[in-house]
Amino acid sequence: MRGGRRYHSGQSGGLTRSILRLFSPLNSPTRSGSDSLSAARPPDPTRADPPRGACRLEAHSMNPFVKFLNSSIGRKYVMAVTGLSLTLFLLVHMAGNLTLYAGPKAFNDYAYLLESNPLLPVAEAGLAALFFVHVLFAVFLTTKNKASRTDKYRSQLGMGAKSVASTTMWITGPLLLVFLLIHLWDFRISKEFLDESEYDLAAMVTARLKSPIGFGIYLVSMGVLGFHMWHAFQSAFQTLGFAQPRYRGLIKITGRVITVLLVAGFGGIPIYLFFAG
Ligand code: HEM
Repeated sequence: MRGGRRYHSGQSGGLTRSILRLFSPLNSPTRSGSDSLSAARPPDPTRADPPRGACRLEAHSMNPFVKFLNSSIGRKYVMAVTGLSLTLFLLVHMAGNLTLYAGPKAFNDYAYLLESNPLLPVAEAGLAALFFVHVLFAVFLTTKNKASRTDKYRSQLGMGAKSVASTTMWITGPLLLVFLLIHLWDFRISKEFLDESEYDLAAMVTARLKSPIGFGIYLVSMGVLGFHMWHAFQSAFQTLGFAQPRYRGLIKITGRVITVLLVAGFGGIPIYLFFAG
């Protein structure tokens, strides 16, 4: 029994493997045929563990892309690419939100322009997919790579000493996810239940951020976003192969400038609306 369990959780995490195998050619009828043959064979009482080469054999016959996604570095690549794409979205989102400083009409005009774009549903679906994959792979990485391999990989890249931002990614990530769910409810989902005549996005944002609870949630969450981004940006670039010393300084500074811009840009809005809006 114990041997069997070890076989299943083997090289790649159980949940990861189950999901990735959905896309894997290993799911072919030929293979399931051989599985049912071996299932019909009586167990060999002299062998407590399944054959040691079994996992390696499976890895060998895997589609190279699936194999890459199943590896530690592959998962980090996915995190890096989705994370940088989300950063781009945040910069655009933050820039659009700055129209709030120009008054409710400017903000509503901007929102109307966005909402009347026929490509918006496609962009929203792409964005949702990015968030979903980023969170899913974060779960894969943290559950599977808690042990040695990530650390070995980190030190190979010369990522240097741990910082508060890097060691708190495990909590800043989930907190941002909670914020995102609250935020989507506040301004994206709840508007679907309103009549067109009631719908005034600027008034919704102002009311939410003027309330002490809304103000607190948004202000604290922007601090959390700052912590998350402080480490994530440079980590993503290093994963993508820009770990050479000559790029390191530039990446670090760019990451910090972007983080400060996002925190100041997003964080200034609740402060402005709470005290002056
Ligand atoms: C003070 C900070 C923020 C304000 C005032 C704000 C405001 C808004 C508003 C008004 C909308 C609805 C837009 C519309 O439907 O036309 C929206 C959507 C959205 N926001 Fe924010 N946002 C802030 C920060 C953030 C942050 C930090 C994130 C990500 C971590 C984020 C992610 C999103 C997403 C994913 C959507 C849905 C986009 C869509 O489906 O069109 N927002 N935000």
